[in-house]
Amino acid sequence: MSAPKFWLRCEKKPFEKRAALTPTTAKKLIDSGFEIFVEKDEQRIFDDKEYEAVGCKMVANNSWPSAPKDIPIIGLKELEESTDPLPHTHIQFAHCYKNQAGWSKVLDRFHRGGGQLYDLEFLTDASGRRVAAFGYHAGFAGAAAGALALASQKKGQTLGLLNPYPNEEEMVSAVRAVLPGGSGKGVKALVIGALGRCGRGAVDLFRKIGLEENDIVKWDMAETAKGGPFQEILDVDIFVNCIYLSSSIPPFVTEETVKAAGKGRKLSVVVDVSCDTTNPFNPIPIYNINTTFSEPTVPVPVGAGNPPLSVISIDHLPTLLPREASEQFSADLLPSLLEFPNRDKARIWTDAEKLYREKLSAAVQAERSAKL
Ligand SMILES: NC(=O)c1ccc[n+]([C@@H]2O[C@H](COP(=O)([O-])OP(=O)(O)OC[C@H]3O[C@@H](n4cnc5c(N)ncnc54)[C@H](O)[C@@H]3O)[C@@H](O)[C@H]2O)c1
Repeated sequence: MSAPKFWLRCEKKPFEKRAALTPTTAKKLIDSGFEIFVEKDEQRIFDDKEYEAVGCKMVANNSWPSAPKDIPIIGLKELEESTDPLPHTHIQFAHCYKNQAGWSKVLDRFHRGGGQLYDLEFLTDASGRRVAAFGYHAGFAGAAAGALALASQKKGQTLGLLNPYPNEEEMVSAVRAVLPGGSGKGVKALVIGALGRCGRGAVDLFRKIGLEENDIVKWDMAETAKGGPFQEILDVDIFVNCIYLSSSIPPFVTEETVKAAGKGRKLSVVVDVSCDTTNPFNPIPIYNINTTFSEPTVPVPVGAGNPPLSVISIDHLPTLLPREASEQFSADLLPSLLEFPNRDKARIWTDAEKLYREKLSAAVQAERSAKL
């Protein structure tokens, strides 16, 4: 029997330096008998040489469309837009299971090509929790961006371009360097969703830049049960929202409460890690766009004469810490990848396939109706 294989494709989104397979996990797969093909890629945070050194077979950049059909292609983000049929098996985030814009067209490509999608967002353990997610580093990077924005705002400036950091230590040092006294001491932050993945990351960043433990207010379900809007949010310097929104809830903060707080408002920066920007139940209805690494903040209307308030709503925050974020994600995914050769029986993969079949059939119908 030939060795099981994976083909790591390059990511084509600008700024995306993360990888679904790192040299560390590639080596573990190779040690377990897998053959790993890796597309050469200058954008990735890991050098081609790091993959080569552990025994990966290097192939041309973006060459996966001509890979043998029986090799599963693994990547992170959506494929580039196209109408080409997809004959391969792809393991990736496809963002097409929740009726997102263009969802049925993406799935129709698999239908026409006879390929198959295993969406990383829906690989879950027996209790329904995702086996691999980027939350921790999203919260960590979001809190860092929030502290940087606060420092800029205190100087009367607007935070400019954010570039990915080579590692966590450099991010922490960069944030500390712009804070008065080289530390976040004296800054007060509130993290909602503090018990979750993103929330834990945000709390850890605030600790690492030197906030006092008492100045990191940690809220989760119990604290928001009384229903918003919350005065407590207006009384901290940075508010980081990290909740997993699953239903309609009262807003946490509104334009009216911000304006009513007048000149006495402490709140200067809101980081909406959850980024439910266009969700009708967005509990932070004080902004309506996703911000970007080149323009990380958007101002909130605050009323004449009141102190400024800005929102960070970047929806790909872990990209700011590509090395650590990839290592954690890939390590968490590894046990499932090791089970992939047995995907006809392994629960995680059979569940993912069942979901794919359901979504595929809905997409085919949607495409048919659209053509009528
Ligand atoms: N911006 C980004 O780059 C980025 C990256 C990764 C994840 N996310 C998003 O961040 C969100 C959180 O992801 P996660 O992996 O941390 O989820 P998680 O399930 O690990 O944690 C969510 C936490 O929110 C809490 N929560 C839910 N509703 C709440 C409420 N009404 N009040 C208070 N707490 C509440 C939960 O109890 C849980 O502790 C998701 O929407 C995810 O899509 C964003």
